[in-house]
Amino acid sequence: MKDIIILGIESSCDDTSAAVIKNGYLLSNVTAGQAVHEAYGGVVPELASRAHQQNIVPVVDQALRQAGVDKEAISAVAVTLGPGLMGSLLVGVSFAKGLAAALGVPLIEANHLQGHILAHFIEVEGEAHAAPPYPYLCLMVSGGNSQIVKVNAYNQMEMLGQTIDDAAGEAMDKCSKVMGFGYPGGPIIDKLARQGNAQAFTFSKPDVKGLDYSFSGLKTSFLYFLRDQIKTDPDFIAHHKEDLAASLEKTIVDILMKKLKQAVKETGINHVALAGGVSANTALRAAFKAQEAAGNWHIYIPKFGYTTDNAAMIAITGYYKYMDGDFCDLDKPAYSRTTL
Ligand code: KG4
Repeated sequence: MKDIIILGIESSCDDTSAAVIKNGYLLSNVTAGQAVHEAYGGVVPELASRAHQQNIVPVVDQALRQAGVDKEAISAVAVTLGPGLMGSLLVGVSFAKGLAAALGVPLIEANHLQGHILAHFIEVEGEAHAAPPYPYLCLMVSGGNSQIVKVNAYNQMEMLGQTIDDAAGEAMDKCSKVMGFGYPGGPIIDKLARQGNAQAFTFSKPDVKGLDYSFSGLKTSFLYFLRDQIKTDPDFIAHHKEDLAASLEKTIVDILMKKLKQAVKETGINHVALAGGVSANTALRAAFKAQEAAGNWHIYIPKFGYTTDNAAMIAITGYYKYMDGDFCDLDKPAYSRTTL
């Protein structure tokens, strides 16, 4: 039987990534990040598009070489069509369309959020792997999203709740910026928090209906709290950075877990997965593991490299769609916003 080889391409934000999956197994996953945004405390869309332009050819080339695959052997090209920054998306999408047309192979549309949620199904030959059974719940937390999703099948997902304003990662990044730390703030807060007392300070938790989230109030209350403290101690942040990070992180994790526990109760589904960049967070992982240890949930946490933006998750989405013959017309445009 002919090998099924999917090239996945991801360029929705500030990571240019390409991956190769052969017969369902990952052969390569190459990502070029963009340090250029660090100086600005956030992603600058125009700079992101320019960096993607520089990175796309070498990244795809390296992914194919690492996989030991000739481009002529590719069965289909899967690409993130959205959601994301339009200028960034256009680089990957235009490249993928051009390559698919030149090779005469199908183009496959991957939704970025769907990709994050399917990261649990990325398999490397010879490595242990446990994928969640359908249906499962997925807490999808990244710099742009905070959602609880009921996953009925790889291509059938229901949004049970989502943020009505900022995302959890965005809250981490913005609070980090307010404290004068670098970007992205999540990993910095995570590292500092490990040395801090999570009970030192309390910040407001939102009261939002149903399974929805809100993080903008927390960001504001954090900012006002710091302003007040700095009036009496100008070096308050420097003196308390570990405790501030730990208390902030605990507040965010408590908010995320409260609604997730509610979702488990309401749906009766106790297979619970984590996805998106914030799933790298130590306290959030610990909160998941505590639920598992208590015998409440079966948990699924993807490998670190598959939590942040990567093309392996796009390639696995592409692989499933290829098996279903679910292809995309070359004239379908990229989209900046969408639900699942
Ligand atoms: O999924 P992702 O790479 O990009 C998108 O937003 O699509 O997620 C990036 C987000 C950033 O907000 C970053 O601060 C956060 O994930 N993040 C973390 C950690 N690592 C990354 N947040 C908390 N703890 C971490 N260890």
